[in-house]
Amino acid sequence: MTEEIRNGYEQVDWQKHYDDNDLAWDLGEAANPFVRLWEDKVLKPGTLIVPGCGQGHEVIFFAERGFQVTGVDYTSGAVGLLRKTLKDKKLNANILHQDFFSLDVAHDRTYDNLLEQTFFCAIHPDQRPAYVETVSRILKPGGLLFGLFYETGEGGGPPFNTTEADVQNHFAAAFDIERLEKCSFSSEKRRDKEWLAVMRKK
Ligand SMILES: C[S@@+](CC[C@H](N)C(=O)[O-])C[C@H]1O[C@@H](n2cnc3c(N)ncnc32)[C@H](O)[C@@H]1O
Repeated sequence: MTEEIRNGYEQVDWQKHYDDNDLAWDLGEAANPFVRLWEDKVLKPGTLIVPGCGQGHEVIFFAERGFQVTGVDYTSGAVGLLRKTLKDKKLNANILHQDFFSLDVAHDRTYDNLLEQTFFCAIHPDQRPAYVETVSRILKPGGLLFGLFYETGEGGGPPFNTTEADVQNHFAAAFDIERLEKCSFSSEKRRDKEWLAVMRKK
């Protein structure tokens, strides 16, 4: 096992993926389950934050549909790509080029919605309690976390395997888990490997 896998990635490791244009996780469009939740009016307009947003297909999709979107990523590679797309499309969204875990108190109880996709599995499992602490802090009471949690079924990472029990164990204290099911409309390469969660901040 390499040092990288034992410890997880650091900022420089993610940046290298952008430098090398090696974005194997990138779907090239907003993830279909989020689009469906919006079509079904489960995901309703308001403030929305996307941690570890990458080049931000969800940021773009929801900004185009009237949401007040904030995308957070700590690599200049991701932020640069997202800024360019927003400019080209003449769209507004708030881009935070920083570590998600260091969002300051100005963000507390700010967001109606949060989208999780391939960020929870990107961080080291040791950071999962900090993830829950941060998302709980920045969502409004009653705010919703829409998550696609990636069950790779493999050791090491990133991506780090996430099971149904992991989701329950980490989130149940701070969230009412309204929906947690194997997603039946994932992208082809994640078929049968994603847990779709809708969780409401207590
Ligand atoms: C696997 S990629 C997923 C990107 C995007 N969610 C997607 O599905 O296309 C993980 C992203 O999280 C970002 N990231 C990892 N740790 C971060 C942190 N602590 N704060 C902010 N961004 C982070 C990386 O720079 C990378 O863009």
